Amino acid sequence: MTAPDLPVRVTLPQEDPGFFKTLGTLQDNILRIIPAQALEQPIVSGRTLVGWHMIMDPVAIKHVLLDRLNDYPKSNVTKALLSPAIGSSLFIAEGAYWRWQRRAAAPAFAHRTVASLAPIMSAAAEAACDRIVAAGPRAIDLGEEMITTTFDVIADVTFSGDDMMDRAAVHDAIDGYINEAGTVSLLDMLGAPAWVPRPGRGPAMRLLEQTKNAADAAIERREARGPLAVPDLLDMLLAAEDPKSGRTMTTAELRDNLLTFIVAGHETTAQTLSWALYLMGFDTIAQDRARAEVQSALQGRAASAEDLQALPFIRAIIDETLRLYPAGGMLSRTAQSDDTLCGTQIKKGETVMIPVYALGRHRKLWEAPDAFRPDRFRDRKAIDRYAYLPFGDGPRICIGASFALQEAVIILATLLQRFRFTAVKGRTPEPKMLITLRPHGGVWMTAEPV
Ligand code: HEM
Repeated sequence: MTAPDLPVRVTLPQEDPGFFKTLGTLQDNILRIIPAQALEQPIVSGRTLVGWHMIMDPVAIKHVLLDRLNDYPKSNVTKALLSPAIGSSLFIAEGAYWRWQRRAAAPAFAHRTVASLAPIMSAAAEAACDRIVAAGPRAIDLGEEMITTTFDVIADVTFSGDDMMDRAAVHDAIDGYINEAGTVSLLDMLGAPAWVPRPGRGPAMRLLEQTKNAADAAIERREARGPLAVPDLLDMLLAAEDPKSGRTMTTAELRDNLLTFIVAGHETTAQTLSWALYLMGFDTIAQDRARAEVQSALQGRAASAEDLQALPFIRAIIDETLRLYPAGGMLSRTAQSDDTLCGTQIKKGETVMIPVYALGRHRKLWEAPDAFRPDRFRDRKAIDRYAYLPFGDGPRICIGASFALQEAVIILATLLQRFRFTAVKGRTPEPKMLITLRPHGGVWMTAEPV
């Protein structure tokens, strides 16, 4: 079979949809607020109560994310959306408060620590294989499978061994919050008048409060008991100390950061793996090539951190997946002072967005931008750093990037070593973004043991 032409994508609107349409779109698919010009132009500007700009020019992006970091903090929208859930975490902190939290969390994501977590990732991948075998020849939604798998990993490395933290409850609380309160706050921040109908906030927030209480209790139990023999993320954050003030994290900071790692860490990686599996069904030639690489590198063993070097094509598939379907498809900042970007005036208080989805498919930055070509990542030096931003960049780059990449490579390699995946005809997922870019409708495939 020859590879079909292009994998699924979103048709971006040709015209500014206008205020009311934008509100509807935000509840349905954030990608559809990106105008089609964003695929061709360096900057596109508009106004939805507040002025906004989308920038796709690598030089301007570097200016925002690196050179003028303090003038472009995380946007008011991001903060309003996330602060009820994770108000004291480094994800939305700024200035000196952010810096110390970032320093405190850094050892937990250092290269050696991440490498030591490989067995947990392999074990979760093996458990996924067992579930797939148990499903037999019927089609399964690998999207759901990947959520379970990456949640297993993150739950193990944050609150390891604490059976009192009910995983399903944590998962439901986070999912409910994202689906329900997420939309509400976006509406709030776009300045939607009070009469615009909003989804109820009650049940999602109550569930989240229960989860926070359970997390606090788990933290207190650990404080009383002392660190585990092999320290997990909670132990590392408990031990973290501000080198200047000697201050340690409060229970609220510990809890909000751990919940952040769970939220930011499992859903994003799961969606990346789901899209990668969709692409394996889309391009079966690439799937066969990937499997051959894994079989020769692993010879039937589970993948470890040392194997990653020997899996360059698997890594390239993950890189290319993150270009076509970046889980964090949109970064946003609020300008703190007047500025000029790509010759356009930016006013204090306006929103500056980096539509990572459009950046990865920009006509002037990529050859065959909508095609699935993992080999474009063979020579990483040929990729313009600020044209490829699945993890953001500058000081606020994703702290979990190497964790996520290691996890995605290990899980994809393990699955491909065990199964040949075939897409179910007529069930192509639709790219839909609320907070992360999900394969809406699921990734339905049959898995044949090899
Ligand atoms: C494929 C998986 C992932 C993707 C695509 C992703 C994407 C991103 C992006 C784009 C940002 C920057 C946001 C911005 O600048 O506005 C970010 C930040 C962050 N991510 Fe990730 N992420 C992933 C996995 C993880 C994991 C596994 C963790 C932790 C276990 C994590 C924790 C964080 C945190 C704490 C921040 C905030 C860092 C700061 O502001 O200093 N992420 N992520």
